[in-house]
Amino acid sequence: MNKQNIPIKFFDFSPEISEIGDQIHDAIKRVISSGRYILGSEVSAFEKEFAQICSCKDAIGVASGTDALFLALKAFDVGPGDEVITVANTFAATALAIMYTGATPVFVDIEPHSYLINTLLIKEAITPKTKAILPVHLYGACADMDKIMEIATDHDLYVLEDACQAHGALYKNRPAGAIGHLAAFSFYPTKNLGAYGDGGMITTNDTDLYNKLVLLRNYGQKDRYSYNIPGYNSRLDEIQAAILRVKLKYLSAWLEKRQRISDLYDIGLTDINLVKTSIDNASTHAYHLYVISVEKRDELQAHLEDNGVETLIHYPVPLHKQKAFKKTKICGQLKQTELRSNQILSLPIYPWLKDEDVYYIIDCVKDFYS
Ligand SMILES: Cc1ncc(COP(=O)(O)O)c(C=O)c1O
Repeated sequence: MNKQNIPIKFFDFSPEISEIGDQIHDAIKRVISSGRYILGSEVSAFEKEFAQICSCKDAIGVASGTDALFLALKAFDVGPGDEVITVANTFAATALAIMYTGATPVFVDIEPHSYLINTLLIKEAITPKTKAILPVHLYGACADMDKIMEIATDHDLYVLEDACQAHGALYKNRPAGAIGHLAAFSFYPTKNLGAYGDGGMITTNDTDLYNKLVLLRNYGQKDRYSYNIPGYNSRLDEIQAAILRVKLKYLSAWLEKRQRISDLYDIGLTDINLVKTSIDNASTHAYHLYVISVEKRDELQAHLEDNGVETLIHYPVPLHKQKAFKKTKICGQLKQTELRSNQILSLPIYPWLKDEDVYYIIDCVKDFYS
């Protein structure tokens, strides 16, 4: 409950609909009356626009972020017997996509301050089976891509950026998605750029990989009923592309609002004994999530809930501790991953969150620790 006794949701779509609903309806009507619903002009225009904001040569629209990861790994020819190095403090889809190919996810620990892949541990995890490194730009912060690309070059490995939470993030002034051989984005509705349904995108500067992915997402079909490789049905649809084209125009303004909210939290929470994620690799955070790391996290979450503030935990149980991921490999001990999973808490952040609500949340947190 804020001061007006209205609960503060973790994410609220209604202000977005009030702001751009008319344009969204127009975009949907345009597609419906076009009679072209799959792989038409909206998808190809959105692919060009998205590639441009990512400073990439090409982008390929697919059905989801999970499919973007999976198809990207297929484009690298990752398959049974191969290993892909990644982290366990991520959304399940990162590791599932590796497992869909028949390959094994190999988890390494994270840096204590950034919660991102610890690049010092990657070399230890490399074996003759390693085919790729899959860093996750968690919460909207970029992993240390220079170091990752250097290791990949030295060991002849592919790099796939999981940029599903990082639309608009920069690494040394280069957009997330422009650095690895391929990058995967999700347009799940709550993302920084979200569709009104599922959607995903792969970005690349590699023409051979691009050509392969265009086939992979569409049954492996080169021309109608002529199949070059066994592919899949995984396409971004025209309606979602048209919606995303409307929303793309607002992305930088919405990112500024996220940045402003994160600044308010930073300033308001300075006196509290908490650890905020910090990045020392000169990247610009896209603040998909604002995450704090605190003592008595569960009690704080309950206190916030009692006061009408919805929070979430990204993610409460690391993947290596879950039944579905028993057949994965762990390199070393995942001490930081496990420690953080017990301490992290995501506070509400979205472009329309009001300043007064942010101040109220800050007061609730301070009140708990006073
Ligand atoms: C880090 C990460 N990877 C992959 C995904 C999967 O994306 P999607 O939900 O679009 O399949 C998500 C989305 O939730 C994510 O946050």
